Amino acid sequence: MERTSLKTWRIAVLTSGAGRGSNLQALYDYFKKHSLPVEIAFATASNKNAPVVQLCDKLNIPCYILAPRKDKDFENRLLELCQQEKIDLIALAGFMNLLSSSFLEKVGIPVLNIHPALLPKYGGKMMYGMNVHKAVFESGDKVSGVTVHLVDNQYDNGPIIAQIKVDISDCKSPEEIAAKVLEMEHQIYAPAIYKFLNER
Ligand code: GRF
Repeated sequence: MERTSLKTWRIAVLTSGAGRGSNLQALYDYFKKHSLPVEIAFATASNKNAPVVQLCDKLNIPCYILAPRKDKDFENRLLELCQQEKIDLIALAGFMNLLSSSFLEKVGIPVLNIHPALLPKYGGKMMYGMNVHKAVFESGDKVSGVTVHLVDNQYDNGPIIAQIKVDISDCKSPEEIAAKVLEMEHQIYAPAIYKFLNER
């Protein structure tokens, strides 16, 4: 990816309707705290009542309502936004839908996702949110973790670009695992994105 010394990377963050937006906040905080040349040019949420909408308002980030399940034209609208806003990378943070191969090809920029487990374990279609942490808890695993990966047209499937383990041996419930893993998500997503942008 070409970058002049003056260029600020422009990223878009895609979320859902139910997401807390804690990863969006963590990305914003990290880039700001370290004065990195990365701007969250816009975010998306799938409905206007999503907590992320208010968060974006607070952070002064434009937030567009794009509802993949209701809007058949969702990908074209997203494509247009990415082109208009000259986006360099899309970061999924709680985004629940698949993106088609045709969209990924047309948009032509990397799309990353963060997943709250050690892929390829505990990934795939219904593996999101507490479903992941319940499955990890029930398996008796003593280690979980966080994975950042490139997105393709299947759930949680693209090449892994960063992965970090989290010791969950002291966790007594899926909720405790979720909290511990989320803390790690907040630490790794922004540096992984920044490193990826700079190394391409
Ligand atoms: C995170 O756990 C992330 O790993 C998953 O969706 C969740 C989003 O949480 N893909 P938040 O909305 O960023 O708090």
